[in-house]
Amino acid sequence: MNSTFEIFLATQPGLELDLTAEAARHGFADPKPTAGGVVVLGGWHDVWRANIHLRCATRVLVRLTSFRAFHLAQLDKRARKLPWTDWLPLGARIKVEATTRASKIYHAKAAAQRIDTALRAALGDPRDTAELRILARIDDDLVTLSLDTSGEPLHRRGHKVAVGKAPLRESMAAAFLARMGYDGSQPILDLMCGSGTIPLEAAELAKGLRPGRSRSFHFECLPSSDADEIANLRNPAKPAAHIAPIRGQDRDDGVIAMARQNAQRADVADLIDFARMAITTTARPEGPPGLILVNPPYGARIGNRQPLFALYGSFGALMQETFGGWRVGLVTSDKGLARATGLKWRPPTPPISHGSLKVQFYQTGPL
Ligand SMILES: C[S@@+](CC[C@H](N)C(=O)[O-])C[C@H]1O[C@@H](n2cnc3c(N)ncnc32)[C@H](O)[C@@H]1O
Repeated sequence: MNSTFEIFLATQPGLELDLTAEAARHGFADPKPTAGGVVVLGGWHDVWRANIHLRCATRVLVRLTSFRAFHLAQLDKRARKLPWTDWLPLGARIKVEATTRASKIYHAKAAAQRIDTALRAALGDPRDTAELRILARIDDDLVTLSLDTSGEPLHRRGHKVAVGKAPLRESMAAAFLARMGYDGSQPILDLMCGSGTIPLEAAELAKGLRPGRSRSFHFECLPSSDADEIANLRNPAKPAAHIAPIRGQDRDDGVIAMARQNAQRADVADLIDFARMAITTTARPEGPPGLILVNPPYGARIGNRQPLFALYGSFGALMQETFGGWRVGLVTSDKGLARATGLKWRPPTPPISHGSLKVQFYQTGPL
């Protein structure tokens, strides 16, 4: 493997362009969007910083090698020649996951077993360590081996332990904040904040905190790892010069308590004002207009769709009557509900996979 190799930044389908833009902002060379992620070229330092700094990525894979194999014996022979100990620690526990498509090797499980046997021969018996993951894709007789360097998906920042019924993924909150141009200097208000994902992402961004500052990653146990450099990458970036107020509200006491705990754990409690409040009693904050970003309930997942028309309708009315000059962002899986707000939306994003649902992000210009 050369010092520069292909790195695949995986994300939720639908967020590829958001991640491409973020990777470019972070100085990754020539990021190329593709289905389910973004391809960049780089070295191990880039792998570490992608894991620790990128908010819209869900996983970082390193392409280890690729070669042609037309039958299992050939795969076995090639796999035994690979420099496994350059990539992986002796005694590592490793799960090999294989997929095959349009290839003479059609039995994915048998392919995974051959690779597993080859790497066991090189690394020795597994010890009681974290389980690493090798992905083998066999496509048109071309075998591509990748190593998952993240472990837990990256949207799990390790701060949001308490969550409500339908939490938004951090990667999505970050993408929508970026789409609204949030940089810490605009006031931001989430009127249905649940466990606080949107205010937390906003406050971390404003403070320059790295999304991966608190969690561990699989790359830390690889032979390429460098503890000092990795520790440096966890240090904060420059905070915004003047951080405008960040507020999270919800009508549910329980989730507001969770949001406060999550903010404490993320070290942003000093920046966020949380309040228990139904949207109907919301007053316009003093000061210049800012951004409203909300993720109301969607009928498809929790509760019924019908009563939600009234909720979306009163949200839209509140925006128009009270929030002149502010811009509004809305995440929902339901076009009809977005329309029920009566707000003038710009064309929404393409659908984004979110669990079993597809959601879209809508935003207005200044009201
Ligand atoms: C989909 S959840 C939001 C999840 C949140 N983004 C998170 O990541 O945890 C919708 C939230 O809207 C709140 N909600 C529903 N109706 C409301 C109302 N009329 N006023 C304020 N909050 C409301 C619910 O209590 C729930 O927490």
